Amino acid sequence: MTNLLRIPGMIDPHVHMRDLEWAHKATFASETAAALAGGYWMVMDMPNTPPVTTTRPAVEQKRAAMQAQAVCDWGFYIGASQDGNEAEYPYIAPLACGLKIYNNATTGTLLIEDQAVRERHYQAWPHGKPIAVHAEDETVDEILALVRQYRKHTHFCHISTQYEIETLRAAKAEGLPISVGVTPHHLYLVEDDIKHLGTLGHMKPTLKRPADRDALWAGIADGVVDVVESDHAPHTLEEKQSSKPPYGVPGLETTLPLMGLAVHEKRITVERLIDLLALNAQRIWRLTPDAATYTLVELESPDLIERSRLRSRCGWSPFEGMKVYGKVREVWIRGTQVYDGEAILVAQGFGRNGMIRDGE
Ligand code: DOR
Ligand code: ZN
Repeated sequence: MTNLLRIPGMIDPHVHMRDLEWAHKATFASETAAALAGGYWMVMDMPNTPPVTTTRPAVEQKRAAMQAQAVCDWGFYIGASQDGNEAEYPYIAPLACGLKIYNNATTGTLLIEDQAVRERHYQAWPHGKPIAVHAEDETVDEILALVRQYRKHTHFCHISTQYEIETLRAAKAEGLPISVGVTPHHLYLVEDDIKHLGTLGHMKPTLKRPADRDALWAGIADGVVDVVESDHAPHTLEEKQSSKPPYGVPGLETTLPLMGLAVHEKRITVERLIDLLALNAQRIWRLTPDAATYTLVELESPDLIERSRLRSRCGWSPFEGMKVYGKVREVWIRGTQVYDGEAILVAQGFGRNGMIRDGE
């Protein structure tokens, strides 16, 4: 008999599900189905897809679309806007899973480079829900200055360099309220892989040197890294192969099998895999999944990442052809089986906003 591992309430706190004005790339229906196929209970959507999630009407529009379409539980971030949307926080923060501040350029229009503007957002954001930041290189130090001053929990997304990991290791030792996320693509790919991946290897932060990748694995080994997040960012193959390819790669269906590969190669233990994909995000976002919310995964037999088996609307992966370990057999949410290893078993709209607790 095959041994199945039980993981309680897997969370991906960093996905770009698109829909709305970018429904040609992907939809909440298609990408929450991909999330279930990837083993996830809950996904948290980023605010950079147009219309950017910075105002009350944009929040209402996203919320209604997710409510109607999602097959897994969900949350969404409010985007910090350059022009100032702090006055909206009292109304929109209670619905969201956190604030996202883009401090370096990437896909979309959200970008704040002015430290004084960043500070206004830090001041205004209510305590209790994390501030997630896109911060690279010395921008990490600029954000740490705000964390030191305001003591609001800050999640550093997709950390990709040795310098950043070392800086954040020191910041944790200092006792700052921070957490650290890394992506599977920065753990498994390096800049040299762009030779064979072409523009499918383009994302922000960019792929780095082997020494940087090794520093991320060291951060996983010593606990500096809290979360492995996919930064699932689907773009159509046509867009990726155009003369102006957008940044981003999909990852919802490949993250668990790639971390299963890390277990198989003895880089991490099974317990650490569960921390990185479920328990640490539950702690950071203060989420307690129902006892009957869990994933059963077969970690022992090898599997191949193949384009034809992916559910994400974009239909490609930078990891195609890799031999991985971690076949999702069953996903259960609140006592209902939602995925059986092949098919989605619930209708669109089954998923709930996981940040709204019963009675709130
Ligand atoms: O590569 C990326 N793609 N990095 C980001 O920060 C945004 C994302 C997207 O939305 O395409
Ligand atoms: Zn992202």
